[in-house]
Amino acid sequence: MKDTMYGIVKANPLPGADIVENLPIPAVGDRDILVNVKAAAICGTDMHIHGWTTWAQSRVPIPMVFGHEFAGDVVAVGSKVTEVKVGDRVAGETHIPCNHCYQCETDNRHICENMKIIGVHVPGAFAEYISFPVDCAFKIGDIDYKLGAVLEPMGVAVHGVDAADVKGKVVVINGCGPIGLMAVGAAKAWGAAKVIALDVVPGKLEVAKEMGADVTIDSMKTDAPKAVWEETGHGADVVIDYTGNLTAIKSGFKMIRKGGRYVLVGLPNGKLEIDPTEDIIYKEATVIGVTGRLMYKTWEQCLELLNSDKFNIKPAISGEYALRDFEKAFDAIKAGAAGKMLLIP
Ligand SMILES: NC(=O)c1ccc[n+]([C@@H]2O[C@H](COP(=O)([O-])OP(=O)(O)OC[C@H]3O[C@@H](n4cnc5c(N)ncnc54)[C@H](O)[C@@H]3O)[C@@H](O)[C@H]2O)c1
Ligand SMILES: [Zn+2]
Ligand SMILES: [Zn+2]
Repeated sequence: MKDTMYGIVKANPLPGADIVENLPIPAVGDRDILVNVKAAAICGTDMHIHGWTTWAQSRVPIPMVFGHEFAGDVVAVGSKVTEVKVGDRVAGETHIPCNHCYQCETDNRHICENMKIIGVHVPGAFAEYISFPVDCAFKIGDIDYKLGAVLEPMGVAVHGVDAADVKGKVVVINGCGPIGLMAVGAAKAWGAAKVIALDVVPGKLEVAKEMGADVTIDSMKTDAPKAVWEETGHGADVVIDYTGNLTAIKSGFKMIRKGGRYVLVGLPNGKLEIDPTEDIIYKEATVIGVTGRLMYKTWEQCLELLNSDKFNIKPAISGEYALRDFEKAFDAIKAGAAGKMLLIP
């Protein structure tokens, strides 16, 4: 194995990032594994770090190798690792659990009280190698590394759809970014009676149709709650928000039928003003928050979907670039690419 590697480093408190050669290969602790990254994907979080937004400024110590959606080969394991061996193909769970808080001890490691995040708090995957705790390794079987790299964001999509309990139901997917698009496919694969996909970008709605949406609504041009009401007669059984947009989240409450369910996945960066009496209480609505992925039920569900002929992820992947050309990939996302963008070291 080489002594050094290259990686994409957020080095300066300015927009952009640098390719740094001759980085040390990360050290491998007792419970860590070293993975040779074969494919990675860009997340909204990486856009924040690259753009050095206030969100990133308040969280990310620099210099930092960022990136957290990845898959590759295990090339070394720590002295106390038994679950994974050299040669295994794995993807990485972004959320590092502490293993000893109340949540970790009650099988809810994905909402660990002391969670650390790969590529935010500790060095990430936009590099030739990454070392991370074996607790965060998921064996991907024989699927393509490129699909392995999108398991993590797909997990966010699928966790939301699982929480919504979509079988036989009329489901609104609000927001057709990469995660909403994968959710459209998952909802159809899991037997939703009708999937109504909403976005404000026509091109994304086109991709939503390719993912299996039965109806698409452009919320920019149409009164979306009214359109959902007309489509359903009595409101949607479930609405899942993947927009993270406060206006969209607010309008979602108007789309749910009485007794319906609202699953919130998108992350708004502000406070939400709602009318609890009309929007939740009189409706007897169930409102559920979803974060990350269940470790590892959701991952198994994703693998099953990827291996099923009822689900096709292809339309939700928009392109791939060499890791060294990462700026082109970031530019393509800024230019409005609908799906995930891959980076290949
Ligand atoms: N809960 C979690 O653990 C978790 C994890 C990862 C990402 N997220 C969040 O999930 C959301 C989806 O992630 P993504 O990567 O697909 O993000 P994204 O920003 O690419 O997708 C958001 C989509 O919503 C659309 N949109 C914006 N305003 C809208 C409106 N008013 N009506 C309808 N559509 C609108 C955008 O055009 C875009 O297609 C983001 O908010 C992200 O922060 C949550
Ligand atoms: Zn991510
Ligand atoms: Zn914990």
